[in-house]
Amino acid sequence: MALLKVEAVSKYFTSPGARSEFCVFKDVSLKVKEKEFLSVLGHSGCGKSTLLNIIAGIEAASDGYAYLDGKQIIGPGLDRMVVFQNFALLPWLTVFGNIRIAVKAAYPGWDRNKIHQWVQKYVDMVGLKGAEDKRPSELSGGMRQRVGLARAFCVGPRMLLLDEPFAQIDALTRGVIQEELVRMWEDTGITIFMVTHDVDEAILLSDRILLMSPGPEARIMEEMHVDIPRPRSRTSVIEHPAYYPLRNRIIRFLSRKDEDDQTKCVNLVA
Ligand SMILES: Nc1ncnc2c1ncn2[C@@H]1O[C@H](COP(=O)(O)OP(=O)(O)OP(=O)(O)O)[C@@H](O)[C@H]1O
Ligand SMILES: [Mg+2]
Repeated sequence: MALLKVEAVSKYFTSPGARSEFCVFKDVSLKVKEKEFLSVLGHSGCGKSTLLNIIAGIEAASDGYAYLDGKQIIGPGLDRMVVFQNFALLPWLTVFGNIRIAVKAAYPGWDRNKIHQWVQKYVDMVGLKGAEDKRPSELSGGMRQRVGLARAFCVGPRMLLLDEPFAQIDALTRGVIQEELVRMWEDTGITIFMVTHDVDEAILLSDRILLMSPGPEARIMEEMHVDIPRPRSRTSVIEHPAYYPLRNRIIRFLSRKDEDDQTKCVNLVA
């Protein structure tokens, strides 16, 4: 059974002063299996963050429903942790404090000692040992995103929702943190839903990629399985015979101007 099920979800926004509603995406349906790494790729503005926010329970769907483990998603919860592109750390708290606040929320019965040990475990896991007392303003982008990942993993969520988590990180650091993410994903057996517009990132990390058409009225148009064995590295991926056909198919899709052929969109729930 799928862990996450999104069923015919549509989202409309009304801009201030506008008379009509604007449809961001329409009838989006998808499923994510337990332990799967699924990515949604699409142009800027097609509604990727909006879709992720609906799954996170931060935003309400205009139509349709999303379910986690068969239970309708009606708000945010510690079973779905989000890692944002802009890090979203609390600026007045240290690295340790930013992670501790999540642990305290998830495990209210734990004593100080147990909380301390748990936070330290995740600080170490993301390679931030020695930086525990620094505040977000004193950290590089890569370090901030490591805090974001530690904060998300430390509460033991069912799903990790990643919204372009590496977009603001330099290319070299991005590669290192992507590898760390994959290691943590494999160690914990967590399920990941990631949105990105980076084709190579999607191929390197994902089991499956969904392509979203440009909005308005965006839809999920194609589904691709990444049949490249793990463990993967940047070099092993580009040397694999499946890489270029997959990459070319995605690039061709993203370069197409007219995505209005609605008969082509895939129904991933049926
Ligand atoms: N709260 C809001 N009110 C009105 N319109 C909104 C709101 N949030 C998003 N939108 C609009 O919905 C569309 C989709 O936005 P969204 O942020 O989901 O796109 P995205 O695919 O994540 O883009 P990017 O790749 O740039 O992050 C955009 O046209 C955006 O302007
Ligand atoms: Mg976005």
